Amino acid sequence: MKKTSYKELGLVNTKAMFAKAVKGGYAIPAFNFNTMEQMQAIVQAAVETKSPVIMQVSKGARKYANPTILRYMAQGAVEYAKELGCKKPQIVLHLDHGDSFETCKSCIDSGFSSVMIDGSSLPYDENVKLTKKVVAYAHKQKDYVTVEAELGVLAGVEDEVQAEESHYTKPEEVIDFVSKTGCDSLAISIGTSHGAYKFKPEQCTRDPKTGKLIPPPLAFDVLKAIEKKLPGFPIVLHGSSSVPQDEVDTINKFGGKLPDAVGIPEEQLRKAAKSAVCKINIDSDSRLAMTAAVRQHFAEHPEHFDPRQYLTPARDNMKKMYVHKIMKVLGSNDKL
Ligand code: G3H
Ligand code: 13P
Ligand code: ZN
Repeated sequence: MKKTSYKELGLVNTKAMFAKAVKGGYAIPAFNFNTMEQMQAIVQAAVETKSPVIMQVSKGARKYANPTILRYMAQGAVEYAKELGCKKPQIVLHLDHGDSFETCKSCIDSGFSSVMIDGSSLPYDENVKLTKKVVAYAHKQKDYVTVEAELGVLAGVEDEVQAEESHYTKPEEVIDFVSKTGCDSLAISIGTSHGAYKFKPEQCTRDPKTGKLIPPPLAFDVLKAIEKKLPGFPIVLHGSSSVPQDEVDTINKFGGKLPDAVGIPEEQLRKAAKSAVCKINIDSDSRLAMTAAVRQHFAEHPEHFDPRQYLTPARDNMKKMYVHKIMKVLGSNDKL
């Protein structure tokens, strides 16, 4: 693929967006996408709510959908937003959980405006070294590409980055890490994790009326200590799906099997968004919204086999979820 700058694609980096969000006490949505329907729903929601948005792509998404296709989809997203009436869309194309310098370089060269280098599973010094190398390459581009790094490990699976248990970010390390690496934002670990099963039932209490799990609170004391060390520095939260129980119930009602799926309560994310947390990553909620709509559609219309018949309600349901997150959780509406 010819080397392309993200500005040629109409994309923006996260620099100004994050500075404004930290000051304004809201967070930018970072929605993962793998399919055209997810991309369309993200753009529709961002335009309708007048919100900046980060469209992010994991290594797995690149493998699934093809790197070239995803990159042109991001360019298409900008044009689609304009077509929907947004004069100056603010759309970031971001690599989620980049696992090597080579992956980050390949994304930067093909038009990504932001990359994450996830060295969180490495020993501290190696994380610093790898992050620094990616930052040097990203920042020397004609158009500055922003870099997200990670310190502290989330429980569960981060692409191929494995961790047995959650290790919160150590506030005493953040100044050294940020100044040595020059990263533009920092993903931290304060108790969130990836996927639809964020906590084991034994870590939660149970609502006596509904039987639903109530998860333990996030470590806001750790977040506060980090903010104190790095005043105004952009902080990122991964693993921030709230696993809406109505979607889980729909999935289970129509043949699915997601017992005890549990996420981060939205009021905790709302609280985080008001702090220096200026990017909140949501992927699983989109998967749940899509799956719930498709399962319901097939149960109600067993005779249907045209993908447009079941992907239209799936797309609509994802858009509804994205609008809700922007308006009611992150507060990034009307911030264009
Ligand atoms: O953090 C992980 C994201 O949800 C991406 O997941 O690697 O399955 O695309 P994926
Ligand atoms: P969820 O699995 O909670 O949606 O987290 C997504 C994420 O952090 C992507 O990097
Ligand atoms: Zn993540």
